[in-house]
Amino acid sequence: MVEEARVVGPAAQAVEEAVVETSLRPRSLAEYIGQAQVKQNLSILLDAARKRGEAADHVLLHGPPGLGKTTLAIIIARELGVNIHTSSGPAIERAGDLAAILTNIEERDILFIDEIHRLNHSVEEILYPAMEDYAIDVMIGKGPSARSLRLSLKPFTVVGATTRVGRISSPLRDRFGAVHRLEYYDRADLATIVRRSAGILGVEIDAAAIDELARRGRGTPRIVNRLLKRVRDYAEVKGDGRITGREAESAMQAMDIDDEGLDTTDRRLLAAIVQKFASGPVGGAALAAVLGEEVETIEDVYEPFLLQLGFLDRTPQGRVATDRARDHLARLGYEIPPPRRGDRQDPGLWDGVTSDGRLAVGDALGEAP
Ligand code: ADE
Repeated sequence: MVEEARVVGPAAQAVEEAVVETSLRPRSLAEYIGQAQVKQNLSILLDAARKRGEAADHVLLHGPPGLGKTTLAIIIARELGVNIHTSSGPAIERAGDLAAILTNIEERDILFIDEIHRLNHSVEEILYPAMEDYAIDVMIGKGPSARSLRLSLKPFTVVGATTRVGRISSPLRDRFGAVHRLEYYDRADLATIVRRSAGILGVEIDAAAIDELARRGRGTPRIVNRLLKRVRDYAEVKGDGRITGREAESAMQAMDIDDEGLDTTDRRLLAAIVQKFASGPVGGAALAAVLGEEVETIEDVYEPFLLQLGFLDRTPQGRVATDRARDHLARLGYEIPPPRRGDRQDPGLWDGVTSDGRLAVGDALGEAP
């Protein structure tokens, strides 16, 4: 399945969606909901830069897709009253491409580099002196007469974003003065985001519907906003346009999104581990082959939230579907073969789950009822 087609997939998709997403984006740190610690630290960094009248320190934002890394970069630029230049690791192919961007940057501007872990080595080499000394070294001429010439740049700030902080080389990571990890949002914050977005879109939505969306939004603002738009369509077509809890639930059912917010792709992934690999452990390549997906897509897009939910564990031998995952699939009517012996994380617990999903504690502890 192509990730862009997923309602709960975090990738930005159609132009219409991008426009709506832009309109829903908070425009200041004060408007930005959640990520309290990141906001507090950024606020100090920005205040200090403003007071000194200098370019802010370079900032690296990492975490799963859809949590607001790009939004924060735009907010940083707005709060500093400077321009933002946007690019990405794969878009900057050659050292010369980056040199062209850097020499056009005005004092204290932001250079936002999305997917910064995908910069190639020769481009990274240009970025080091640019970040450290606001200078780039260009080669003049070829062969034995070639010389390196240092060009100075205006002081500026790199905001890097990545879903893969482990893939960033340490010399690059060390050049960021501030490194922040964005966490999945809790339900209360997601509910606040849904309420705010509904207000901007001019949609009437009740508390039960807000809760439904927040519960199924996979801790991700981009996803709750996307669900809100789909539920709005549903309410307009099937009802009078107002979104109630019942409509939200029916719309989710129509989209095959279950009560944990998992869609068919997530369930296919879990079911593959449970049914084809006896609940694991299974390596990324084998899983990717069975699902017909890229390993990187599985690791960056699908797995982080399943790990966060406690449906998946990563072990040195590979991924393992947890008892919670098996229980969830069992409740949805999937056939659950016994997990491979010796690899079960908590065999007692699974043994003690009754057919209606409750825990029979005495059984789980192996005691007489
Ligand atoms: N829309 C998307 N992300 C948001 C956030 N963190 N706060 C407010 N609105 C948002």
